Amino acid sequence: MNGVFESEEFRRLIKNTDLAKEPPEEDGSARQAYFLKKAKEIVSDRERELGRKLKACVVTFGCQMNERDSEKLRGILSLAGYEITDSEDADLVLYNTCTVRENANVRVYGRLGGLSQYRKKNPGMIIGLCGCMMQEKDEIEKIRKEFKYVKLVFGTHNLHRFAELLVRALMAEPKEQVIEVAEKDDSIVENLPAERTYPFKSGVNIMFGCNNFCTYCIVPYVRGREKSRKPEDIVREITELAKDGVREVMLLGQNVNSYGKGLSSPCTFAELLQMVEKIDGIDRIRFMTSHPKDLSDDLVEVMKNSKKVCRHLHLPLQSGSSRLLKLMNRHYDKEQYLSLALKLRKEIPDLSLTTDIIVGFPGETEEDFQETLDVVRKVRYDSAFTFIYSKRFGTAAARMEDQVPDEIVHDRFDRLLKVVQEIGREETARFEGQTLPVLVEKINREDKSLVTGRTPQNTVVHFPGCGDLIGKIVDVRLDKCQGFYYLGTMTGGKEC
Ligand code: 5AD
Ligand code: SF4
Repeated sequence: MNGVFESEEFRRLIKNTDLAKEPPEEDGSARQAYFLKKAKEIVSDRERELGRKLKACVVTFGCQMNERDSEKLRGILSLAGYEITDSEDADLVLYNTCTVRENANVRVYGRLGGLSQYRKKNPGMIIGLCGCMMQEKDEIEKIRKEFKYVKLVFGTHNLHRFAELLVRALMAEPKEQVIEVAEKDDSIVENLPAERTYPFKSGVNIMFGCNNFCTYCIVPYVRGREKSRKPEDIVREITELAKDGVREVMLLGQNVNSYGKGLSSPCTFAELLQMVEKIDGIDRIRFMTSHPKDLSDDLVEVMKNSKKVCRHLHLPLQSGSSRLLKLMNRHYDKEQYLSLALKLRKEIPDLSLTTDIIVGFPGETEEDFQETLDVVRKVRYDSAFTFIYSKRFGTAAARMEDQVPDEIVHDRFDRLLKVVQEIGREETARFEGQTLPVLVEKINREDKSLVTGRTPQNTVVHFPGCGDLIGKIVDVRLDKCQGFYYLGTMTGGKEC
């Protein structure tokens, strides 16, 4: 781990915190600082009693939003005095859960069972659950009844109250469960500290929640309504990150293309990108995820002309059938999607286009599925995440008749995967022989004489080099495509 990043504002808050005065409920950042200081006291008392450091482990399930939330949770834990570890043999283990598909929930319960060996060894261990799955009432009931040893539970809207909840869990009676799940939260709390996984790149939330209500998707129910951060807050955070050594930012939102709606002074996503582009020290800008219905011509123009915005766009298709897209409430049809994707291919030829596709949505026929295959063949995605439709309680699609039998869905899934992979390999290989800037991320796990990095297209490249290159952007010739990654050679500068 790389140490905690605190904004100047948060550092000031901590410094000025007086433990005799609890800040009011509405002052989220001040309360965070106050309870953090309190948690630190309790943690250091425990450490004195035990004669060793306390360790904490945060495990992330799901998407990049959750990854970023986990960095904030680790930031708080680290400032509270915990040593952050990847091992679940720790004094505090927190699962940051996902619920987008049923199997995500199943995995969490399976993993909880695996903690029993550590619980026996360390009865004071605190097990916590947070994130999207905790926004579902049935899951909370299950945890109350069947997983009484889970000490701390909080939802996506309570993340900014983590320091306070941590204090409550640390002070709770042995059998007490600390559970706090808010149904909604309209505020945005700025200045949460975070412990970044990589010192040189960082996710940055630009908005929270989603208003789209795609009929299969549980996200709007568990993450709440869409709200955008103010551009000045985003720019301030990225400027501070740049000063702290960050070179690449990933702007995060469920639908970044609708960024800015509802702000008192309007700002589009394309305008925000232009502001971020001006920040000194930031060399690469990525973003995720784009809804096709909101992707503007302005954004294509900004991407095309930008030296910093990376040549990668994730443009979820979900289905190629206009009939299903309507039932999914996606607000585009096959032709509109195709013309957008083909325009992007034409305007930005070195763009990598990736997507998400669901098979087995209720009522999907072989003809619908063939439409999906047709789009895949026409757009020729560089890679695609393919999912089997999962019925999520409370969504509109869960009430639709005509759920597709499992064996048909699996057969379609296998056929889709084959086509997606075949095309993905061919598209990835189109860069062979080119020299591209690569941000070096780590030493290769299997062959320590190699380092691993990513091109602007987000393609992984391994090439000879040493640890000094980590965090640097270097030119690498892509010598040989090995399916979905490259072996390369650095062309300028020294390998070590
Ligand atoms: N079943 C299967 N896949 C889903 N996704 C969202 N909800 C479901 C569901 N109920 C997929 C979509 C989305 C990605 C993050 O997860 O493809 O883009
Ligand atoms: Fe879910 Fe649709 Fe929102 Fe994406 S845009 S998070 S698929 S509701």
